[in-house]
Amino acid sequence: MRSVSDFPVEKPVLVTCGLPYANGRCHIGHLRTYVPADIFVRTLRKRGQRVVFVCGSDTHGTPIVMNAEELGVLPGELVGRYHAHFDRIFARMGVGFDYFGTTDAPSNHSRTLQIVDSLIEAGYVYPRDIELAYCPRCDRFLPDRYVEGVCPFCGVRARGDECDQGCGKHLEPGEIRDPVCKICGSGAEYRTQEHFFFRLSRFKDFLLQYLPGLRGTSNARNYAIEWVNQELHDWCITRNMEWGVAFPGHDGLVVYVWVDAPIGYVSFTEEWAKQTGGDWEAIWRGDSRIIHFIGIDIVYHHCIFWPAILKGAGYTVPWAVVASGMVKIEDKKFSKSRGYIVWVDEDYLEHGFHPDLLRYYLASYTSHTKELNFSWKIFQEKVNKELVGSLGNFLYRTTLFAHKNFKEVPIGDVSSEVMDRIGQAIDEFTQGVEEYEFKRAVDSVMAFSDFGNTYFQSMEPWKLVKTDREACASVLKDCLQIAKALVVLLEPVMPGLMEVAWRELGLAEESVHGVAYDEALVELEGGRPILKPEIIFNKIDDGKIDEMEAILDKRITEAVEKEMGFENMNKSDNISFDEFEQLDLRVGTVKEASRIKGSDKLLKLAVDLGETTTRVIVAGIAESYTTEELCEKQVVVVANMKPTKLFGVESHGMLLATENGVLLEPDEPVENGCVVSPTAIK
Ligand code: MSP
Ligand code: ZN
Repeated sequence: MRSVSDFPVEKPVLVTCGLPYANGRCHIGHLRTYVPADIFVRTLRKRGQRVVFVCGSDTHGTPIVMNAEELGVLPGELVGRYHAHFDRIFARMGVGFDYFGTTDAPSNHSRTLQIVDSLIEAGYVYPRDIELAYCPRCDRFLPDRYVEGVCPFCGVRARGDECDQGCGKHLEPGEIRDPVCKICGSGAEYRTQEHFFFRLSRFKDFLLQYLPGLRGTSNARNYAIEWVNQELHDWCITRNMEWGVAFPGHDGLVVYVWVDAPIGYVSFTEEWAKQTGGDWEAIWRGDSRIIHFIGIDIVYHHCIFWPAILKGAGYTVPWAVVASGMVKIEDKKFSKSRGYIVWVDEDYLEHGFHPDLLRYYLASYTSHTKELNFSWKIFQEKVNKELVGSLGNFLYRTTLFAHKNFKEVPIGDVSSEVMDRIGQAIDEFTQGVEEYEFKRAVDSVMAFSDFGNTYFQSMEPWKLVKTDREACASVLKDCLQIAKALVVLLEPVMPGLMEVAWRELGLAEESVHGVAYDEALVELEGGRPILKPEIIFNKIDDGKIDEMEAILDKRITEAVEKEMGFENMNKSDNISFDEFEQLDLRVGTVKEASRIKGSDKLLKLAVDLGETTTRVIVAGIAESYTTEELCEKQVVVVANMKPTKLFGVESHGMLLATENGVLLEPDEPVENGCVVSPTAIK
């Protein structure tokens, strides 16, 4: 059995979503975790299952502290801002958590301490002296993102905690080579300090026995088994920081963010229990069903690290891990720095698109475990063809016809053929959702909507109404029942719009949200009034899509320019002589040239500009010149550039070269320091 449907409906199933870092705005990549989880929860509830649905902000870790430092605010202020942002976006998107907490809440601090203490007591935590990057200039240790250097596995430049541009490996503290301080740019050194490790290696047998039975999507399970079979390294679970959950008994150390973040799942359940009188221990210490929805990027943490922590501390381990494929934008890898990103507020909601259209796209574009491509053109096509053309068309023509010709639901029975078809649609949809096949589930309802359209079309009620009013009434009764079933079935996917459709069927007393699937099989009561319907789904025109594509294109172009340092390439047509005169251009001779550690592009040069000492200049020409070729070469230098630090080397000037990296050189040797000026003024 891989489905939740064999669990007692009165016992709550716990569903969680990967916690968003409270360090930036919500983008549609995030929603791939939250929307399907919300659909899953709504569907389970419609089947009568009790569910507790929790999430919260992930508030710790070095990126948050560094971002706060850059903005000149306290970390608490920064995470408070983004916590409120996510809370608001989830409400707008119809993602209805029972509790949305934060990992910086007192309850999470204390639950983390309790779990860490249990692990220490059980002998799963041990101290070890490790060599850590330390910046002598800043006089501090440099945890995770505070340090950059070279990946020990593949040799590519990497962040302190992850080889993000190369092999993608997670880097443990002390593993990075040639460390450089991110704060001041100087070279860091290694210093020994005592840190604490979690004996993940001890959990190999447990994991090998646990993982094959882990439910959810097979991608999560299979990756995890593969990793455990390779090798399990113990994890350093302490960091030199102030912001975070203080590690017991050691000033200046906090627990690693990946310890207190998943513990949020527990403390948020506790908070939910406090508010509702529920029993959190029945979930976290009893025989329960804990289902984590995450993106494929954090499978290691949820299928290996987290179950080991829970097991070691005596808690119930997850029953299922549901991992989605990543979201791509216009077929390109999601990337904030490259501009391939769609913000939920700025790029979607603020343009007047209904939240449910995006929910529909995310649920139905592709299978949950595959990569999901977001493209404005496909968005338009799906909305216009599927939602407007099929579903919207059926709902509108049915209710409009009923209103015009009968003003009420006709008296009489729904045909058994239609009732059977509804039963089949409910089975297909719930099965799909419970197997985390959201696309299959939605597609089956859309096929049912097509069935409705075909039925309406082939019965020709507009003819019948003139010839056989009774026969027409019974066709219409069938169609209205199909409409009712469609609305109930699709409420988990499009809760806002289905509520509107529900009212148009004259069913306003109760929200469709609280209606169970069985209700789809309850015949609409004859004689209830049907008012004039409004159109629920509207076509998106090409102009709107062009506008959205232009916004995305602009962001991508700006990102490229920023990356290349071309922000000021949009040159003014007319500059004054005075403006040109501000440049101090001189000829100098390269005296020394050397490579800069960790950079493929940059060289460090000593240039004689006829001054008392040579100038240190960093130039991006390592790909076009060797250090030997440069020695004694005359170059043109912008001598009054503001000094800037590159890879820890302060540069006092800039060389002039063509955009493909060819250096400018005087036509014949001139004196060092010779001024370069326009020929016109001689
Ligand atoms: N804070 C961690 C999770 C801690 S869980 C104890 C984190 N945060 S996140 O903000 O980067 O991502 C939040 C959720 O969104 C995660 O489940 C992550 O997998 C998912 N996604 C973030 N970007 C995504 C895409 N581009 N595509 C699909 N899912 C993505 O990870
Ligand atoms: Zn420093």
